[in-house]
Amino acid sequence: MEDLAKVRDELMAAVSSAGDLAALDAVRVQALGKKGRITGLMKGLGGLDPDARRQAGQALNELKDEVAASIEAAKTDLAKVAMDAKLAADRLDVTLPVRPSPEGRIHPITQTMDEMIAIFADMGFVVAEGPDIEDDHKNFTALNMPPGHPARQMQDTFYLPPGADGLGNVLRTHTSPVQVRTMTSQAPPIRIIAPGRTFRSDYDMTHTPMFHQIEGLVVDETTHMGHLKGCLIDFARAFFEIDDLPLRFRPSFFPFTEPSAEVDIGCSRAGGELKLGNYGDWLEILGCGMVHPKVLEMSGIDSSKYQGFAFGMGIERPAMLKYGIPDLRTFFEADLRWLKHYGFVPLSVPNLAQGLNG
Ligand code: DAH
Repeated sequence: MEDLAKVRDELMAAVSSAGDLAALDAVRVQALGKKGRITGLMKGLGGLDPDARRQAGQALNELKDEVAASIEAAKTDLAKVAMDAKLAADRLDVTLPVRPSPEGRIHPITQTMDEMIAIFADMGFVVAEGPDIEDDHKNFTALNMPPGHPARQMQDTFYLPPGADGLGNVLRTHTSPVQVRTMTSQAPPIRIIAPGRTFRSDYDMTHTPMFHQIEGLVVDETTHMGHLKGCLIDFARAFFEIDDLPLRFRPSFFPFTEPSAEVDIGCSRAGGELKLGNYGDWLEILGCGMVHPKVLEMSGIDSSKYQGFAFGMGIERPAMLKYGIPDLRTFFEADLRWLKHYGFVPLSVPNLAQGLNG
């Protein structure tokens, strides 16, 4: 029979040098497993005479219990060490600010609309919407463009088959029909902006068949042309982030406003480069005016009591000007490299308090 004291020392040394739970389990198998050392010794007991067997059996049992107990103790220690290591590795500081690195990008058109909405919302406007497919009445007639009116011809309209109600349908040529939808569904005071898609059958360097506009409408008992001017001056300066950007209100004509104006912003075209600011040259950005009394009346608003202003502006051109995008058509080519370059990080939502473009 082997020297049990030596077996004990070797097994105990193996237990205490096991560095992790897997190593410890290997030691257990070596000592107590089917082919383990202690198991082997026990099998050898059969060859001894009864007295020696009893003695050796007792000694072996004690050794077995001692080794088993020390394996258990080592197991508890190693499990604790493993848990501590895992807790340290998985540690999460929930007070750290979120630092996202999102993959996608916000399209510059969406960004620009969000910026415009943020500015007008700050002035008390609320967002209103209408459908891309609009009936002929709201797109034209209710805006003082009855059938046969020459202004209808100027809009390169996409006509659609009449709906179930027999009304002619079009892809809306401007966002102005949202004015009609708002005035026929809610009573003054009204203060809305309506961003969205618009459509005209036109395609060249500076026109795409689908583009975007934002419409504004204010109707109440006191609003006058001075408010219109102040509102649009504040808007343009906030949007382009140029405090002294000059605006010029040039008399114009729209069937749905009287008087009407087109608004130009100051710029320079020196050296073939377009720069915004007080440089003496002008660039048109929007149309506006006082809502025509006939337009109010056609939507059921008493024009002897109520008045207001409206404006309509394209989104693409201001976006190109602000973000230095040279070619209109690239907006709609869905080129991911372009979007990566000109797009915006999703989580910086425009607002006036923190800056419009993060
Ligand atoms: N709807 C006009 C267009 O698409 C833009 C416009 C001009 C809208 C004057 C208005 C406005 O509300 O008052 O060309």
